[in-house]
Amino acid sequence: MKLGIPREVHPEERRVAVVPETLARLRKAGFDVLVESGAGVEADALDAQYVEAGAKIAASADEVWAQADIILKVLPPSEAEIAQARTGQVLVSFVQPADDEARVAALAATGISTIGLDQVPRISRAQKLDALSAMANIAGYRAVIEAAHHFGRFFAGQMTAAGKVPPAKMLVIGGGVAGLAAITAAKGLGAIVRAFDTRLAVKEQVESLGAQFLVLDFEESGEGEGGYAKVMSDAFLEAERKLFAEQAIDVDIIVTTANIPGREAPKLITSGMVESMSEGSVIVDLAAERGGNCQLTAPGKTIVHHGVTIIGATDLPVQMPALSSRLLGNVHAAMLEEMGGGEGFEIDLDNEVVRGALVTHEGAVTWPPPKPSEPSTAKNYAKDFGERPKKDAAAPEQAAVAQQSGNRALMIGTLIATLALLLCIGLWAPASFAGHFTVFVLACFVGWQLVWNVTPALHTPLMSITNAVSGIIILGGLLHLTTGGDAESTTHSAAVILGAIAVFFATINIAGGFLVTRRMLAMFRK
Ligand code: NAI
Repeated sequence: MKLGIPREVHPEERRVAVVPETLARLRKAGFDVLVESGAGVEADALDAQYVEAGAKIAASADEVWAQADIILKVLPPSEAEIAQARTGQVLVSFVQPADDEARVAALAATGISTIGLDQVPRISRAQKLDALSAMANIAGYRAVIEAAHHFGRFFAGQMTAAGKVPPAKMLVIGGGVAGLAAITAAKGLGAIVRAFDTRLAVKEQVESLGAQFLVLDFEESGEGEGGYAKVMSDAFLEAERKLFAEQAIDVDIIVTTANIPGREAPKLITSGMVESMSEGSVIVDLAAERGGNCQLTAPGKTIVHHGVTIIGATDLPVQMPALSSRLLGNVHAAMLEEMGGGEGFEIDLDNEVVRGALVTHEGAVTWPPPKPSEPSTAKNYAKDFGERPKKDAAAPEQAAVAQQSGNRALMIGTLIATLALLLCIGLWAPASFAGHFTVFVLACFVGWQLVWNVTPALHTPLMSITNAVSGIIILGGLLHLTTGGDAESTTHSAAVILGAIAVFFATINIAGGFLVTRRMLAMFRK
């Protein structure tokens, strides 16, 4: 079976569907590969590298379309490309069927089977096929790099002989894939990051990345069906805008990614807020392709308003073509493997991933796919097949419930085993041993509860836990110092010495931890 990789025809597209690095995987899966000459040149993938990896080079796109059984592309096909498609051929690429129904109809008319990478249901099993998340991740990172490029200061605060530089403050609106990637990148550069999302489930993820999650005092959940974002009420959006108005005065950079798949992006940053930001501030509006979260965003353009740079780029993954192409190549390879590889390749309509992504087949438009009828399989399908597929939130929830009941069973089992052991010891062991052993078991239990229930309020959760452990050591050491001191035997004096050593080292650990934390925090203070 032959794969064809034509050069992307859109003048601004720099990505390629598959890079040479992925060819070994595709050849192992049983495919021959034909690449149009120069297809990967802008993504640092040269013809010679494709040849070295086992591909053949075609002189023109016509040759690729004529010879290949399966065409791998990045962008939806152009009219000229569709004209070259034929019955029985398969196309795997972004398709965006909701944006251009005429294109989908034209594709169907050719008899080609089209797999839309942007239509793959976001279910756990299909994570490696999630091209949208792969691109959003790159966009989130790149948004921060673009912001850093336009922002005239360091992200991290600095204290130098030449003066003190305050750290940059950044607000991320929308903590989905792109938002979390932006937080990671900005934290990596040393900025102070705050984030907001309508879904409270995002709070934990934001905090685990070291950013502050802003909470709105408003009684409305952002969780839509299946744990996904829903369109918020006007009153909620108004309350949100109030929160952002306060933040805009304080922060230097805003990265907005708030969107509900397939909808117009909510307007969250008004022109008044932009004007309240200090000169030199930057807004990167990732939702620009859906109209933008900022009132002033010009999609595809960078403008300056009242000294604030507003970046409305809609092609951030294209700005990193080598990386984007590498990840897209992996997604293409995973899709082809999902479809049976070179030997067993088929369009299996019972495969929920393939069916979910199938846009045209055997001369018909097969999008949107039918909603699953069985409630048990509903969790595996996107909430709304007509729009961008959404993540499979039900699966992790069910897994968590299963894990919880598993944990409870384990706890009860351990308790019963411990009680049985204590009973045996009570019946057969010497009385002194039984007493010590009971204290030992209780101490383990109390210690465990104490350490793992500590609130991680310090700089790192690990430090809070080590401090809790050190606290227990000090308590134990002090007990030995007080009770062991009265006796004269060598065992007791050894206990006193050991107690003193334990108190000494545990105190160093706690005091040292606080000192280090203070020094680290001082680096970020204005
Ligand atoms: P996602 O769906 O994973 O995340 C969007 C987040 O916005 C969700 O967590 C949702 O709860 C949140 N949200 C929705 N309404 C909100 C509101 N009113 N206030 C606060 N948060 C709200 O989407 P992903 O993959 O992170 O992409 C984010 C955006 O970036 C999308 O609009 C996508 O089209 C765009 N994008 C832009 C690119 C570019 O080059 N400009 C490239 C790739 C993606």
